[in-house]
Order: sequence, then C-alpha cells, then structure tokens
Amino acid sequence: RTGEALFRRETDFLKGVVAMNGLPPADRVEVCFAGRSNVGKSSLINALTSRKGLARASNTPGRTQEINFFTLSDSHYLVDLPGYGFANAPLKVVEAWQRLLKAYLAGRPTLRRAFVLIDARHGIKSVDNEILELLDRSAVTFQVVLTKADKVKAKDIERVLDQVRGELAKHPAAFPEIVLTSSDKGDGIDTLRAIIATVA
Ligand code: GTP
Ligand code: MG
Repeated sequence: RTGEALFRRETDFLKGVVAMNGLPPADRVEVCFAGRSNVGKSSLINALTSRKGLARASNTPGRTQEINFFTLSDSHYLVDLPGYGFANAPLKVVEAWQRLLKAYLAGRPTLRRAFVLIDARHGIKSVDNEILELLDRSAVTFQVVLTKADKVKAKDIERVLDQVRGELAKHPAAFPEIVLTSSDKGDGIDTLRAIIATVA
C-alpha cells in the first residue's frame, strides 16, 4: 500500500498508557516517534495525519507524558512518546515516564521501527546516543528524522547531515536513510508516509 493510501484512512486516538501492563494488544505493525522533549514528535504525528489537534503539541518541553497510541487504518499503530532530556515537570514524574519510555522501547515485540527525531539545528547529542544504544541492544531498527528543517539555512544542513551520518555509523540498529522534515511547512511528510507504509 502506498503512503498516500495508508494515510488517507482515518486516524484516531486509542489510549494514553502510563504503565507497561496498559499497552494495547500487540497485534499490529507499530511505529513510534521518540526524541528529546520539544523536538516535534507530536507535531509530526499531526502533520502525517493532517489533523492539527490529534496529538497535543506545545512549546513547553514535557508536554506528552504518556505513551499515546493512535490507530492508523486497521493495520498500524502510531505511537507518540514522552520526550527524554530536559522537561518542565517534577523530577519524580519525569523519572517515572523515562522508565516507562525505556521499557517500551526495549520490550515491545511488535515495534517495527522507532523514528528518532533530531532537531535539524542541533544534530545528535549524548542524550540521543543513550537511546540509540538502547535500541541497538534491543535490536529495534531505528531511523533518524530531522525536524524543524524550516529553521535551518540550506547551507547549514550538510554539516548536520554529516554529523548524523557519522553517529549512525556507530549504531548497528540504524536504518541509513535520514529524513529531513518540517511539520510547519510540510517538507518530507509525504516521504515519511511512504516509509511508514513500507514498514510491515
Ligand atoms: P514533548 O511532548 O514535550 O516531548 O514535545 P514534542 O517532541 O512532542 O514537541 P511538540 O510537537 O509539542 O513541538 C514542540 C514545539 O516545536 C512546538 O512549539 C511546535 O510548534 C514546534 N515545532 C514542531 N515542529 C516544528 C517544525 O517543523 N517547525 C517549527 N518551526 N516548529 C516546530
Ligand atoms: Mg509531544
């Protein structure tokens, strides 16, 4: 199925999960969106599904605090994750959702690909590498999506791409293709839909 056909179908919010035993049945292809707080995970889901308020986005790091499941057609789950790194929330709360996030990434049998979002201005940081190492150990294929491309000058993109390529070479679970996106301008969104449609 093409990305266009897949994403023409209705997407709905299924549930927000706060513990591993609350996960829905592992009976579909699942792709998740991981990344530092505020990198643009929820906005990307809204852009992919053409539904502005589906996943709640905001300028406050730590907006998404549960694992949010969205049903895409009857075949896929799209999973919006809490961010890692700095968040505007009490430490105890942040620690609890970081534990959940890691347990999910390491232990979800139907997780077919983790899209790891990286700010196109900043490249991969050490806090990202910790997550990439977890995905390596868990044998979860991951793919880097650069976000907020609209905030980077074309001449600066190559430098960030080089940095990301260099980091990815260290990770056995990395999928080599890097996707450059802007949820605001729509760049890369069709490409990412097509990629998701190939994940089976
Ligand atoms: P947490 O849930 O807190 O981890 O954040 P998140 O990764 O879900 O980020 P979210 O989608 O809430 O976006 C964070 C901020 O970045 C919001 O103010 C968005 O409007 C902004 N943003 C997201 N994507 C883009 C983009 O492509 N371009 C620009 N310019 N801003 C963006
Ligand atoms: Mg979010």
